[in-house]
Amino acid sequence: MANSAINNVAGFIILVCTTGLISGQIRYSVYEEMEEGALVGNIAQDLGLAIPQLSARKFRLISDDGGQYMKMNVENGILSMREKIDRERICGQATICTISFKIILENPLAVHRGEVEILDVNDNAPAFRGGTIALQIVETMTPGVAYPLESAEDPDVGINAIASYTISSNDYFNLKTQRTDDGIIIAELVLEKPLDRELHSSFQLVLTATDGGTPQRTGTAQILVTVVDNNDNPPVFNQNIYRSHLRENTPLGTLVAHVEANDLDEGLNAELTYSFSKLTSQKVRDLFSLDPDSGEIRTEGVIDFEEAKGYSLNVQAVDHGSPPATGHAKVLVKIIDENDNAPEVKVMSTTNTVPENASPGTLITLVNVIDGDTGENGQVSCEIPKNIPFILQTSSMNHYELITSEPLDRESIPVYQVNIEAWDLGSPSLSTNKTIQIVIADINDNVPRFSEPSYNIYVMENNAPGTSIFEVTAIDRDLNQNSYVSYYLLGNRIQDMPLSTQVSINSMNGTIYAMRSFDYEKLKNVQFHVQARDAGVPPLSSSTTVNVIILDQNDNAPVIGSPTEQSGSAAVVILPQSAAPGYLVTKVMANDADSGQNARLFYHMQSSSDPSVFNVGKNSGEIRTARKLLESDATTQTLVILVKDNGQPSLSSMVTIQVTILENITERIVESENLVTNREYFSDLNIHLIVIFGCTSVLFLVIIILLISIKCKQDGNSNQEYNSTSCCCKPGNSDDAFARRAALEETLRYPGTGRLSRVPDAHNYSVCLSPESAKSDFLFLKTCGTPMSGLNPNIA
Ligand SMILES: *[C@@H]1O[C@H](CO)[C@@H](O)[C@H](O)[C@H]1NC(C)=O
Ligand SMILES: *[C@@H]1O[C@H](CO)[C@@H](O)[C@H](O)[C@H]1NC(C)=O
Repeated sequence: MANSAINNVAGFIILVCTTGLISGQIRYSVYEEMEEGALVGNIAQDLGLAIPQLSARKFRLISDDGGQYMKMNVENGILSMREKIDRERICGQATICTISFKIILENPLAVHRGEVEILDVNDNAPAFRGGTIALQIVETMTPGVAYPLESAEDPDVGINAIASYTISSNDYFNLKTQRTDDGIIIAELVLEKPLDRELHSSFQLVLTATDGGTPQRTGTAQILVTVVDNNDNPPVFNQNIYRSHLRENTPLGTLVAHVEANDLDEGLNAELTYSFSKLTSQKVRDLFSLDPDSGEIRTEGVIDFEEAKGYSLNVQAVDHGSPPATGHAKVLVKIIDENDNAPEVKVMSTTNTVPENASPGTLITLVNVIDGDTGENGQVSCEIPKNIPFILQTSSMNHYELITSEPLDRESIPVYQVNIEAWDLGSPSLSTNKTIQIVIADINDNVPRFSEPSYNIYVMENNAPGTSIFEVTAIDRDLNQNSYVSYYLLGNRIQDMPLSTQVSINSMNGTIYAMRSFDYEKLKNVQFHVQARDAGVPPLSSSTTVNVIILDQNDNAPVIGSPTEQSGSAAVVILPQSAAPGYLVTKVMANDADSGQNARLFYHMQSSSDPSVFNVGKNSGEIRTARKLLESDATTQTLVILVKDNGQPSLSSMVTIQVTILENITERIVESENLVTNREYFSDLNIHLIVIFGCTSVLFLVIIILLISIKCKQDGNSNQEYNSTSCCCKPGNSDDAFARRAALEETLRYPGTGRLSRVPDAHNYSVCLSPESAKSDFLFLKTCGTPMSGLNPNIA
């Protein structure tokens, strides 16, 4: 190149006239960047100077500014490069770059001007000041928009300067260039098609500036186009519908679902917040929470299957762009049943009444069981205890009828508490107990009952009229009115007397009153019936027998029937002088209308004119001689016999007996005189006794009776007058004998009411003769307890 440059330089030498001192101008041109020593021009030759003259004339180069770039050989006048020259450094962007110098010669002095034009060589490539051009273009920018680009710089000039710009090929951008008036090319980046940040978020283009030199040099810059996001993408959930299963009663905070949305945008436009959408009900908001950042849905309330079997949650994701964009999704939560509901037992009423005569199968109430759970958790069985007279009968699914299964009896069990147990088939099973009360209503099906079929009650005679003597009570097992018992006397006469004059009853409480004072000696018992009747409709009744037994009181003193005192004077008894000791003088016969101990009599010697002569049998009342009678004994002895009964207090009677001792009568006569009445008395006692004893006695007895009968007829009807000497076999003794018989007869007639037999222990001691009385067969007669009615029919 240096050589060619030199050649070129030679061609450019301009020879200017050199007249005068400054005769002309020498001009050279040389390319920049020539090597040191490179020939610029042959000045001596061009000035026409001979080589020898040069030193003589002191040929020299004076440079204004070029001296430092070029040097001249004074020997031969050749100008060469002192150093490499960079045109752009010396002249910058000036189009013409010259270095001027002067050549001075002496003898004669001559000054020549010279100029060296530095020619441009394309030694600089276009260059951009910054390596990267950054552009930000919103993705929504409409095509056609132009963005001015920074120009490149090229120090070279002319054709070596920048000639064109190009950009790397791409689908979106083009380059538009334009040359300004001052020749500078301006490039603009033009958007050709719509951008989509989500497709291409940035572009890296290469901008190339090319100069016009040969060879061409280029410079490049990076164009970095950043597509600025627009919030043109809504958040999108990764599922349209989320499905989730949730057991009811799960603890609070259980994760239900995790929703997630994505936003293709970036930055705030892609920052999402989750929430329930407006469609979501308040109920759902109460039960579920949605984390706005994480999208986690958790339970916040108690989930109850029985309330809802599932929930639909509308969720949304909202980005933070402006305006924000929203995405939607749905979360379907299915609730899984847990056996958390015990069966419920519903009955029409918890207190029921059924009459006790209800026939088996009578409906009492309807029972309905329900369970809020589903499936096996909601299948319910139902039962009542087995040992009661009721059953549960299925009528339809979960409906039952509680009916009676057996006859009822209120009197046995008046109220039932029936436990209905219901349980479901869940596991674990839940159960419920419900107790209903069944009240058995009373029916008048029980008769009032007396405690005894009959009552014996003992009443002491001489009671005050109107006193209560007894209470009968009948129990009726029914209830209320059916058990209110009233008492009534049945029958209206008792032993020919109106019943009401004997007894009465308080119909309210069964108290029985004696209406009169009872006399044992007249009435020994009163028997009647009492009816108890309840107030049911119709009433039921029963009766009992009340037997009032009247008890004896010692209200009768002994009555001495024999021997009898005559008109206030003592009874007279005859005693033969010859009587042996133990001779039965007489027998005091007394009777007591009372019975039992009240009628048991004892005999005492109250006083005696000579106590040594007689004694009396305490029980028998027999007065016997205690010793042989003496001449010196008084012929008339007076005895006072006291007869006492055994009652408490005891009653007594006395009889005064005058014993007359006669010398000339035999014992036998006296005996017969004194005892005749006894024989008569017992003649009809008892047929059996007669059979036993009759054979030995009957003849004698008949004779006696005949004698007495004749005598009595002769005496007329004067039974009370015994003082006459009318009636006996033996004159002088007949009075006494008859009087004794009559008195005895009267005494024996007195207890003729004849009802002693009804009181088993009523013994009549008055005729109970002692076996001590050995003198007569009759004295063996034990008449105790034998009927006394109808005695002495002949006499009566
Ligand atoms: C119901 O009663 C039965 C029998 O007495 C008993 O076993 C069961 O535990 C009871 N259930 C409830 C819920 O009380
Ligand atoms: C029965 O009633 C009468 C009259 O009110 C009364 O005096 C009597 O004490 C009562 N008896 C009983 C056992 O209550």
